[in-house]
Amino acid sequence: MNRQHVGVIGAGTMGNGIAQVCALAGLDVTMLDVSDEALGRGISTITASLDRLVKKQKLRAEDKDLALARIRPTVSYQDLRSAGLVVEAATERLDIKLRILRDIESVVSDEAVIATNTSSISITQLAAVLNRPDRCIGMHFFNPVPVMELLELIRGLQTSDLAHEQALVFARAIGKSAITVRNSPGFVVNRILCPMINEAIYVLQDGLASAEEIDVGMKLGCNHPIGPLALSDLIGLDTMLAVMQVFHEGFGDPKYRPAPLLKEMVDAGRLGRKTGHGFYTYSGR
Ligand code: 3HC
Repeated sequence: MNRQHVGVIGAGTMGNGIAQVCALAGLDVTMLDVSDEALGRGISTITASLDRLVKKQKLRAEDKDLALARIRPTVSYQDLRSAGLVVEAATERLDIKLRILRDIESVVSDEAVIATNTSSISITQLAAVLNRPDRCIGMHFFNPVPVMELLELIRGLQTSDLAHEQALVFARAIGKSAITVRNSPGFVVNRILCPMINEAIYVLQDGLASAEEIDVGMKLGCNHPIGPLALSDLIGLDTMLAVMQVFHEGFGDPKYRPAPLLKEMVDAGRLGRKTGHGFYTYSGR
């Protein structure tokens, strides 16, 4: 097993961001997805992001090439065999994540740490699918991963001190600041953030103000870098809905009821930036 070798499952928004920061930190990355097309899109996003850094003279062109060379795209779990850490960053669905965690465990060594970048699913429940649940920990990255400094580490009931320490070492290695929290629906940051965004959607639905006015209100009134509706477009409205549903079911408290407009937007396929249409419309990248 090689602690310099990190596996990332998923080449989507979060997965490619995690692969990028790991490669820039000098780690060898295996990025796994279900198809060459998905992997190609992930690599293109990373290349564009690194190109931007080169253009701004924040990264040397040769370091960009080195970072890209450290990322090996694959569709085969066998390529994760030597990884000391594998971070699952696939679609936010329990059945998919459980299957992936089992697949990871079937190839990695007993000492490898298995992390999940879920936004809201119980770490305790995910860990329970493993033969060695003590090596499982939540690693909640924030979007856009290359920009956001925080890494929220979530200890499930079974997470060992050793897995937690290794997660802290990893956070330092990739230049993130970690906080450690206990497992609970939505953990800590999303528990505070997502109900605020959901409330902004209720405000829009109630016709109290336009999307622009709501966002300007929170930007200028509270110094948020972007407004809650623009942020939900960045997060993805499907992810937002999944998180609110976890709160609603997990706490059984009506205060977490997802805004009907959020549900309707998701039904319409208006998922935010990734589909080019959410509370705002987007053209190009
Ligand atoms: N990759 C790399 N760099 C990026 C980037 C990306 N995807 N997106 C933006 N950047 C960089 C830009 O290059 C720029 O760098 P510079 O300051 O060196 O020039 C910097 O970030 C600012 O970008 P822009 O000037 O293009 O645009 P903004 O000033 O609007 O910043 C933003 C963009 C950083 C996304 C800012 O709007 C922001 O901080 N928004 C809030 C993001 C946030 O709250 N994220 C958490 C979401 S919650 C979550 O992820 C949890 C999940 O479980 C739901």
